[in-house]
Amino acid sequence: MKKSIIKSSGMSVPPYVVTNHDLEKMMDTSDEWIKQRTGIEQRYWVEPDTECGASDLGAQASKIALEKAGWTPQDIDLIIFATLSPDIFFPGCGCLMAAKLGLNSTPALDIRQQCTGFLYGLTTADAYIKAGYANRVLVVGGEIHSTGLDKTTRGRDVTVIFGDGAAAVCIEGIDTDEPCGLLASSLHADGNFADALMLELPASRLPVRVPMDVPGDDPRNYPVMDGATIFKKAVRMLPQVINESLEKAGMGLDEIGLIIPHQANMRINQALGQFLKLPDDKIFHNIQKYGNTTAASIPIALHEAMEQGRTGKSKDVVMFAGLGAGLTWGSAIYKFL
Ligand code: ACO
Repeated sequence: MKKSIIKSSGMSVPPYVVTNHDLEKMMDTSDEWIKQRTGIEQRYWVEPDTECGASDLGAQASKIALEKAGWTPQDIDLIIFATLSPDIFFPGCGCLMAAKLGLNSTPALDIRQQCTGFLYGLTTADAYIKAGYANRVLVVGGEIHSTGLDKTTRGRDVTVIFGDGAAAVCIEGIDTDEPCGLLASSLHADGNFADALMLELPASRLPVRVPMDVPGDDPRNYPVMDGATIFKKAVRMLPQVINESLEKAGMGLDEIGLIIPHQANMRINQALGQFLKLPDDKIFHNIQKYGNTTAASIPIALHEAMEQGRTGKSKDVVMFAGLGAGLTWGSAIYKFL
């Protein structure tokens, strides 16, 4: 059976760096609070008044990944785009980005699974490759959060966390007997907790998607989060779902070279390390620089981990894991060829 191999990666963030001190000028918050509660020091936001959608950042990241893989856009059999912040309500970012890559018939689909979007995308790519429906798949995670955040004190719990960014990974099916590629994947969702982290408008369930009487600064126009609930769920579910994938792959934690978790909060990932009794250097962190880039967070972290030589060598094994809005959560084990 074919193995799904990561050929290359690319990433893109907008040029505008927003530090915690910049946020202090917009709302009642402090560098100390943000660093202590989340580990974040800065994030990248699109410049005010610049038109840039998730598909634009995704296209930039994809061009880098494609060049490194030695693929032209025409070589792609399938595009999978994970985002919670699509450029427009529809059509999806996969279609929009394909056009920006100069394509006009390549199949493209969107995944709306928030922080676990890349895990769902990777697993879907693997399934397409193993089923023989595609052999070269471009998986992208991209978000523009900054244009949809409440930048007043009212929204500070959510706004300080999120950053814009995108990353792309070229995945190819290869015939080999080597145990490599996606070794295991475990995906979950529980919509009973949908309101723990959600953006209500625009809503197709309403007679008018954005009701006439909703002013621009209405809280329903901005994401709301029950941070404590998400935090507790993450700390409980991540170790469980990591063990689930280990069991499926018949592997022990000592065989994982690096854990690349979703970058939602440094404290969540430190708690994960303590629970699993892992030294800090076994868990990859880059939330300090980017904040939470949601569907882009795991592929950006993978891209940087490979660039820094923390993983990517032949036979290296990584574990991806994440939990976020949905709720959705999951993990995946990948072994380099
Ligand atoms: N600056 C200063 N004070 C703040 C800020 C801020 N930015 N935000 C909240 N506070 C205040 C609160 O108002 C509260 O004040 P009070 O005690 O006077 O009421 C106090 O700080 C403590 O607030 P908590 O919400 O209890 O703070 P907590 O330690 O829980 O940290 C946080 C909040 C960082 C949001 C945390 O709960 C968290 O990280 N949760 C998980 C986030 C997550 O993983 N999200 C999922 C991924 S994202 C996705 O799926 C799209």
